[in-house]
Parts: sequence; C-alpha cells; structure tokens
Amino acid sequence: MSPAAPARAADAATNNLDAWWMPFTANRQFKARPRILVAAKDMHYTSADGRSILDGTAGMWCVNAGHCREPIAAAIAAQAARMDFSPTFQMGHPGGFELAARLATMLPGDLNHTFFVNSGSEAVDTALKIALAYHRARGESGRQRFIGRERAYHGVGFGGMAVGGIGLNRRQFGVGLAGVDHLPHTHDLARNAFSRGQPANGVELADILEKLVALHDPSTIAAVIVEPVAGSTGVLIPPKGYLERLRQICDKHGILLIFDEVITGFGRLGTAFAADRFAIQPDMMTVAKGLTNAAVPMGAVFARKGIYDALMTGPEHMVELFHGYTYSAHALACAAGLATLNLYAQEGLFQRAADLAPYWEDAVHSLKGLPNVIDIRNLGLVAAVELEPRAGKPTTRAYDVLVGCFEAGLLVRATGDIIALSPPLIVSRPQIDQIVDILGRTIKATA
Ligand SMILES: Cc1ncc(COP(=O)(O)O)c(C=O)c1O
Repeated sequence: MSPAAPARAADAATNNLDAWWMPFTANRQFKARPRILVAAKDMHYTSADGRSILDGTAGMWCVNAGHCREPIAAAIAAQAARMDFSPTFQMGHPGGFELAARLATMLPGDLNHTFFVNSGSEAVDTALKIALAYHRARGESGRQRFIGRERAYHGVGFGGMAVGGIGLNRRQFGVGLAGVDHLPHTHDLARNAFSRGQPANGVELADILEKLVALHDPSTIAAVIVEPVAGSTGVLIPPKGYLERLRQICDKHGILLIFDEVITGFGRLGTAFAADRFAIQPDMMTVAKGLTNAAVPMGAVFARKGIYDALMTGPEHMVELFHGYTYSAHALACAAGLATLNLYAQEGLFQRAADLAPYWEDAVHSLKGLPNVIDIRNLGLVAAVELEPRAGKPTTRAYDVLVGCFEAGLLVRATGDIIALSPPLIVSRPQIDQIVDILGRTIKATA
C-alpha cells in the first residue's frame, strides 16, 4: 500500500460528519455548515480551510497557558513511553502523589487533600458524595440535601445536573436527584448593567439561604455549591459581599460550602483560585480544565483536612470512601498537570492575568453603545457582552455573532444571547485589541 493510501481513507471517513453525535451541539445545523479546527498553537487555532483563528475563549475556558505548549506535550510523551497506565485502586504511582502534594502547596488554608477525577462533572458528583459521606461519618446522616443556584452549571452528571440551575439541561432527563433546592441567581441588569468588576447590588440575595435553611431545617442540609463566578450561563459576577455572606450562613448552620472552580481555577481571575481572589475559604473545591491546560482530561476535588480526617476512621483494612474512577489520577494527566503547574509558575501567568485585567476591562467596556449591547461585565480575564434577544427568536443573535466572529478569525462563546470571552492568560495587549475589534465589528454587522 502506498503511504498516501491510509491518509485518503481517513479523509473519506472524516468527510462523513454523520456518525459523530456531537455534545451540546445543534447537530443538524452544525453539520449543514460545520466549523472544523485542525491545529492549534499558543493563541491561535487553524481551521480546516487553513485560516488562523484567534482563541478568545481558551478553548472552553481551559487552555489557560495557550495551546500545544512544548513542556506539557513533552511531559505527556515521556510519561506515555515510561508508564502509560497504572491502577490507582490499592496501587499508586509517583505522579499522583507529586501532583496532589504540589496542589496542596498552592491551595488556600487547610484545603490540602486531592481526590482526582477526569472532568468537571465527575468532580462535582464526587464532591457531593464526599459531603454526604463526611456528614454520615460524623453521625449526621440526616444531612442529605444540597442547595445549588439558578443559572448554575455544574456539569452533566446526575448530581451536577440537579444542583445546576439550567432548565434545558434537566428537562429531558427525568426526576433527577431528590432533595435539592436552589438559591436565586444574582444577575440583575436593572441595577447592575455595565458594572466593572463585582457589581454593587445584590448581597441580600445571599440571605435567601437563611430562608431555605429555615424551610428544610439545617440538620437536613449537607452542602451549598456555587460557582464563585458563574461561567457557562454567561459570566455572572458575584455582587460585593455575596460570597462572604454565603460563607457566614453555612458556618452558622454546619453546612459545607463547595466552590465549583472548574472555570475560575488556575488563574482566570488573576489569582490561583477564586477563593484567593475573594479571600473566602470553601470546604471543598472542584476543578478541571486548567488543571492540565486541557491537554489530558483531568478534574479534582480539593477537601479540607477535617473532611479527609473525618473519613480516615474505622478499621484500617477497610476502604474509607467507596468511590473512584478507573482513570482517577491517570498517569498521563498527572504528567500534564505537573508540567502545566510548572509553566504557570515559570511564566507567572496568574499574575500576568491580574496585570492585564485593567486593560482587558477598558477594552471590553469600549463596546458599550454598540447596537443591541445591553450589558458588559468583567473580572480578571473573563468578560461577557450581553445582547438584546431578537423578538421571538432568543439565542439567534448571539449565535450569528459567534458565526460572524469565527468567519472573521475569532473564537468566542455564545450562551443564550451572551457572548463570553476568556482568552488564554498568555494573551497580549494587541491581541486583546484584536478580540474587541472583531467582536465590535461583528456586533455592528449583526442586526
Ligand atoms: C463550573 C463548571 N462545573 C462543571 C463543569 C463540567 O465540566 P466538564 O465539562 O469537564 O464535565 C463545567 C464545564 O464547563 C463548569 O464550567
């Protein structure tokens, strides 16, 4: 067979778009007009038609150090050649211990034990299960309820779906997890539109937690879970004082507070974690995405010492937590994670994000006044531009902007009628200008 033959066979296969049932995608619409990415380096993707696309979203909020970074690729390749896989049930490997120990040095307070998983969804479901097991170990097995929040995204497992606050993500999938209630979301255009940084209004929304606690009784509530900044539903920045008040109420009633930092973790807000940015100590934190710069799937739950210790009881020959995944602490993911953390530290990327944030803020807010722009908000290196929905056709305007930007060489995310931006932390000032320029022109052109 000539060397070219297998390539031709592959081309024929990839030209058939039918077989791949794509996730969170309007499959029929997409396949009629596909957008295919074939390569990536640093701040850019290359599309199948050979165009360079500036990455305004760090892939999906995950490629924080930029694409195809050599030290990460080299660490994965070396690990793949040395030991591709090792069981982690009743066995261990150096990478898992090293990565967990390394993370413990970065994490705030006594949040110093890591349970590895493979995604944000698994991290959330794992954290919810740990919360239940923790209360049970302490003789409070009545604490089985969870409180999430409207417009939250916590992934797609049954636990994350239930504590999440997106109707469309739930309504196809039956009755879901019982015993879950939701706080109201904090998005308030009437009072907070065009806020720079944390909005001034809305701290009182945290007090609704007191009402939910009174309704259900504190002895039934295991944990409250929130994204410090809600990402996937359109970058909802917490009002000043809001997260602090949630922490106080949880403390008062012995309820665990879980921060879902799948998006905010690893520098997005200019600090290692949102917990650092807001100076609030959660009891558990869920992460994924930036943990490995998205080069190998990996997620994690970070737990405070007291949670880990409460479960390290009973006979020593017994498994303490009946939970784990075949690929928990996968050797390749650990190698990628360690190389990623090195890169973040060597290049000072979290500080870089903090230093760029004022420039980013001014740049995105310069879009104020463009047609149909009803809000702009930002924190760290994340921002959203909210558009007035078309009458009777919600989401179509933002989708058209997404397509227009892509055709003009920029990747943005659309959620509802909101354009979300979260470039890799290596973004330069001229690239920020380019993001804002292309987005602005596209918004103008999209009536
Ligand atoms: C806050 C949050 N939690 C959980 C998830 C789910 O992560 P994954 O898609 O890796 O399962 C996401 C994904 O965007 C997220 O933003």
